[in-house]
Amino acid sequence: MDDTRGRITKDGIRIYEPGDFAGMHAAGKLAAEILDEVATLVEPGRTTGDIDRFITERVEQAGAKSATIGYKGYQHASCISVNHVVCHGIPGDKTLKDGDILNVDVTVIVDGWFGDTSRMYVAGKLSRKAERLIQITHDALMVGIEAVKPGNTFGDIGHAIQKYVESNRMSVVRDFCGHGLGRVFHAPPNVLHYGRAGTGAVLEEGMFFTIEPMVNLGRPETKVLADDWTAVTRDKSLSAQFEHSVGVTADGAEIFTLSPAGKFHPTYSA
Ligand code: MF3
Ligand code: CO
Ligand code: CO
Repeated sequence: MDDTRGRITKDGIRIYEPGDFAGMHAAGKLAAEILDEVATLVEPGRTTGDIDRFITERVEQAGAKSATIGYKGYQHASCISVNHVVCHGIPGDKTLKDGDILNVDVTVIVDGWFGDTSRMYVAGKLSRKAERLIQITHDALMVGIEAVKPGNTFGDIGHAIQKYVESNRMSVVRDFCGHGLGRVFHAPPNVLHYGRAGTGAVLEEGMFFTIEPMVNLGRPETKVLADDWTAVTRDKSLSAQFEHSVGVTADGAEIFTLSPAGKFHPTYSA
């Protein structure tokens, strides 16, 4: 892995150069464009494997690479997590049915830069409780991003997300976290979606990382199925997730994975 740019902080976090933002922007944009196109495919009767095949072809067509194919033995260009699946759902012959909610998570490599993003979709009619879960999860990510600026800490991000989610009587998953990225897929720090304000490493301009809160309607505990990937809620409650890749700027955050079509939130047209 050729990651020798910039410098490393005492917390082991890489600080990239101003010129590196353009590479992340290009990678993030492709990942977001692909997720925009996925919106037209999600409907009852479609399989998760169909959606993944589309993503695989789309990444190739763009002359990019999938970061997940071959990653620790994973064989797909996306993770597709339906209903009570928290994350890392494996695409396959599962057929979507009316009312299913799903997260599609895509990571692409463009000119060596990683763009990692996920969002929620609904097949058919969205139930009221799923709509509320999706809204709170989306807003929790945005509340976390609002805490991104030099001088704040990673604990500030986690605290903002946890406070927002729990004040809405939902729970934050503890077993998975966001991560540094850039010229590599997963790098320090672990970006927790819970925590105490003022704790953890201090944010500096030039840090690149994901924020990707998973929120459950029920309890926060998860378990990983026998396939060694699929993480589900232990209590079978519905789960949602949104993910952006961001960079710390002089006065806030640049979101690398903004939806060019404005379709990040599934009720964009409602
Ligand atoms: N894209 C996921 C993340 O947000 C990681 C998926 S790894 C895979 O970090 F192997 F499951 F695809
Ligand atoms: Co990620
Ligand atoms: Co991801």
